[in-house]
Amino acid sequence: MPQIADELYSLCAKKARHVIWVFSDLQQRLYSNAEKCLNICMEDYALLKNPAQMIWYLGDSTESSNLPELIRMTDLQERAFSSLNIPLCYATGNHDYDYAEYCFRNGQTGFCMPFYDMVRSHSGWHTTENCEDTWFRVDVGNYAVYFFCDHIARDNSWCSTHNGMRFGGERYPYTDGYFASVRRNMEQCGKPNIITAAHCAFPGGNRDTYLLSKLQPLPLNVRLHLYGHSHIGDYVWGGNRVFSQIQWVDWQDIPQVDVSSFEDIRGSFCRSVILHIYEDDSLGLFFRNHNDHCFTQAYFPKTTCAEAPGDFERRAELSASGWGRVNRVTDN
Ligand SMILES: [Fe+2]
Repeated sequence: MPQIADELYSLCAKKARHVIWVFSDLQQRLYSNAEKCLNICMEDYALLKNPAQMIWYLGDSTESSNLPELIRMTDLQERAFSSLNIPLCYATGNHDYDYAEYCFRNGQTGFCMPFYDMVRSHSGWHTTENCEDTWFRVDVGNYAVYFFCDHIARDNSWCSTHNGMRFGGERYPYTDGYFASVRRNMEQCGKPNIITAAHCAFPGGNRDTYLLSKLQPLPLNVRLHLYGHSHIGDYVWGGNRVFSQIQWVDWQDIPQVDVSSFEDIRGSFCRSVILHIYEDDSLGLFFRNHNDHCFTQAYFPKTTCAEAPGDFERRAELSASGWGRVNRVTDN
C-alpha cells in the first residue's frame, strides 16, 4: 500500500521537466560493505524505472588511504553509474583526499584521487577541471548549478576539506577577494535561478564550518543548497542534529538540505533525494529510503526570497542582528 509521499512522487513525476538523482557518502573502508550498500541503492532505484536525466554525487564516494581498495571501489561505482548512461556531476568531499593526506604525511611527492580522477576522465561526466579549482558549473533548464568542491594543490602542499583547511594553510592561495569574485560570477550567471551543491553545508546546516560563508551573502536567486557529509542517523558525528535534514542558510532566506548518506552502516538507512524541476521552475524534493523501497517525505521549496534586494551589509546594519555581529571570517 503506497504511502502519501509515494503517491505524491508519482503524481509530481508526470509534471517534472527535469529529474536529478542526488546522493553522497557511499564511503566504506571495506569493499564488501560498499558493494552491499551500492546494490541496495541501485536495485531500489531501478524499481523507480531509473527516472533521472542526471546524477549529482556530493562527495565521499570512497574512504581510506588503501590505494588498491580505493581503485576497486572506484571501478565498482563507475560500472554501476555508467550503466545508467546519464551525466554525473561530482563534488569532492573530505574522504576523497585521504590518500593525498597519507602521501603528504609520509613525504611522498606524488598522489592521486582515484574516484575524482576517474570522473574527470570519464566522457560526459563533470567535476572540476583541475584539483586546485574550487567550483564548477552546469546548467539545467533555467537553473545555474554551482558545485563547490574541496581542493588541493597540484604539488600536494596544501589541502582544503571539511569546509576549512586540512593541511598547508599557510600556503593556501585563495583570498576573501577570490571568494567575492566567485559570488560576482554567480550574480552574473545569466540564469534566473541558482542551486548550489557541495559536500558540506553553509553555516546553519549540519556540521557547518566557515569556508562557504565567504560566499555570503549569496545572491537572492539561490533557491536551494544541497549537501552531504553529515550522515542522517549517525549519532557520533551528527550529534544533536542527527536527524535534521532541512535547515536554512544562516542569515539568509535560503533552504539547505542534507541528502546523506548512500549507506546504512553509519547512517540509519541508504538514502538519496530525487529532485524535480517543474515547468514553472519550482522544485520538488523526494527523500528516498532505499532499504524499505519508499519515499519518506517530500519538500517543495518556495520560489521567492523574503530578503529585499540591495546591499546586504546595509540591510544587515538596519536589522536587529547585523552581519557585523556575526563574527564573519575575514581572513584565510
Ligand atoms: Fe564527509
